[in-house]
Amino acid sequence: MSPAEYAVAREDELAPGQMKRVSAGGRKLLLCRTDDAWYCVDELCSHEDYSLYFGCIKGRAIKCSLHGSYFDLATGAPLNDPADSPIGSYPVRVAAGQVYVAVEG
Ligand code: FES
Repeated sequence: MSPAEYAVAREDELAPGQMKRVSAGGRKLLLCRTDDAWYCVDELCSHEDYSLYFGCIKGRAIKCSLHGSYFDLATGAPLNDPADSPIGSYPVRVAAGQVYVAVEG
C-alpha cells in the first residue's frame, strides 16, 4: 500500500528546535524542525515507551529525557545506549506554507 500524506502543521507554527505532537494514519508522531530541515518520527522512545516530546532536538538528533538515548531524526536509528531499537521516521514535505507527513496506510 502506498503512503498517504497528512497535513499536520503550518510552516510558521514551529521555529527551529521546536516540535509538535501530531497524529497521522492512526500513529502518534512527533514533528520536529531543525535549523535546516523538518523530520517526523514516532512519539515514543523505543526503550521504555517514554514520550520524546519531553526531550530536545540536538542537531539532527532527538534526545530522550528519561535515560538519555539519542535517535537520528532522519533514520530513526538509536545513537547510544540504552535504546537499541530504531523508532519510525516518516517523510516530510513542505509546500505552500503547509507541512505534510507521509505514513503507510
Ligand atoms: S525511555 Fe528513552 S532512553 Fe529509556
